[in-house]
Amino acid sequence: MISIKSKREIELMRETSRLAASTLEYIEPFVKPGVTTEELNQLCHDYILKHGAYPSPLNYHGFPKSVCTSRNDVICHGIPNQKEVLQDGDILNIDVTTYLNKFHGDTNKTFLVGNVSDEVKKLVDVTYQCMREGINQVRPGAHIGDIGAIIQEIAHDQGYTVVEDYCGHGIGREFHEEPQVVHVGKRGTGPEIKPGMTFTIEPMINLGVKQSKVLKDGWTVLTRDGKWSAQFEHTILVTEDGHEILTLRKEENATF
Ligand code: MF3
Ligand code: CO
Ligand code: CO
Repeated sequence: MISIKSKREIELMRETSRLAASTLEYIEPFVKPGVTTEELNQLCHDYILKHGAYPSPLNYHGFPKSVCTSRNDVICHGIPNQKEVLQDGDILNIDVTTYLNKFHGDTNKTFLVGNVSDEVKKLVDVTYQCMREGINQVRPGAHIGDIGAIIQEIAHDQGYTVVEDYCGHGIGREFHEEPQVVHVGKRGTGPEIKPGMTFTIEPMINLGVKQSKVLKDGWTVLTRDGKWSAQFEHTILVTEDGHEILTLRKEENATF
């Protein structure tokens, strides 16, 4: 069952999502060569608590930290670690989920650390474009499959692959609700999109193969071939005439 949020619930979704977005704005200046992913985790943790919320990943099915930090060939669910020091040329995805007044807001961004190669910069740009065009499909009467169809088309055009092992999801009172938002697919397939639905779009795009593997820690998801992967994520509300991006950051006002 796909939950339809009431006016009141939408207001609460707006609040938690705004906090998730502002956590990414807050952390941005700290994402520099020399910082550890554990330090970034602690800063996000403190910021979220200071704003009266709880970091949803912490203890979620045993996840040990407050945000996910996924660097280079890590696709998603990387665990912050005091031994992981950011290097010039890295890319780092920070995935923030907040739990505020009983609702979750979920968003992530891939940051460039210092001077990143042109090849990888292009991967990050195209991944953002995939998310943006996926979001642009969202309006009443469209289908969930329309989102994956456009993402797949853009990624494949550039010779990239789309991760299929992990997907976007409904969000609200639960961290992960129906529907599954797969980032590949066929136009016109999947559930019909209706006003009041809230779900994430979070494509993971790879330079090499689409296949993934999970480290022995049970969480860290890597590319099978060691080539790098990028991701962006927003929480989206379906409105009467289109959509609202609940986790939009100030820096993005120009791009959307
Ligand atoms: N935030 C991730 C998502 O976009 C889920 C992380 S689950 C965790 O769905 F346990 F790893 F935190
Ligand atoms: Co998500
Ligand atoms: Co997320």
